[in-house]
Amino acid sequence: MSKGPRRERKLEHYYRMAKRVGYRARSSFKLRQLNERYKLLKRGDVVVDLGAAPGGWLQVARERVGAEGFVLGVDLCPIAKLPYRNVVTLVADITKEATHELIKQNLPRAANVVLSDASPKISGVWSVDHARSIELSRAALAIAEAVLALGGRLLVKVFQGELFEDFVGEVREKFEFVKISKPPASRKRSAEAYLIAKRFKRI
Ligand SMILES: C[S@@+](CC[C@H](N)C(=O)[O-])C[C@H]1O[C@@H](n2cnc3c(N)ncnc32)[C@H](O)[C@@H]1O
Repeated sequence: MSKGPRRERKLEHYYRMAKRVGYRARSSFKLRQLNERYKLLKRGDVVVDLGAAPGGWLQVARERVGAEGFVLGVDLCPIAKLPYRNVVTLVADITKEATHELIKQNLPRAANVVLSDASPKISGVWSVDHARSIELSRAALAIAEAVLALGGRLLVKVFQGELFEDFVGEVREKFEFVKISKPPASRKRSAEAYLIAKRFKRI
């Protein structure tokens, strides 16, 4: 059998599961799988989710942090309200410096976790899309530096390519633990992967 139909079936499987469980996006399963493996989200955590629309990761984060935690979602697009008092969303551009302050103002305390699943609009020109995705990953790192408590964690989507290693090097300077992972719910042949960083050093 060719890989195409098998891949289609896998995506369809996660899509159906998301519908059944009530998640807004198939990508919720990527966060669940990564969290299971790397223990990123803990009860009571303050979490910032960048590129959060339509809200699938917000739902998973809220499940994990519970009623004692707090989850702030940020996206260029408005996010339909979730039925929890401790899930707040903002419409903002994560690449703008002013967004750092806006995020800080909306947090109850320093964050324990920064998540970013932000993706650029795909132009189809590989070098352009790769550069834009690295720009978003760097924006997530800058926000992590601005809002994370000492020892905090970062999960950020990355697109592998020529600028990738430099970015990983920048993260290594600021966190004691860094790993790259591709969860099963991610398309196997896409350049997409996730960088997990733990123990923020704040140098
Ligand atoms: C793959 S979707 C995120 C899906 C989300 N994790 C979920 O589970 O629902 C990527 C998001 O990144 C957002 N995005 C792209 N560039 C952005 C930017 N500069 N600032 C904020 N959000 C951005 C897009 O609007 C889009 O909603």
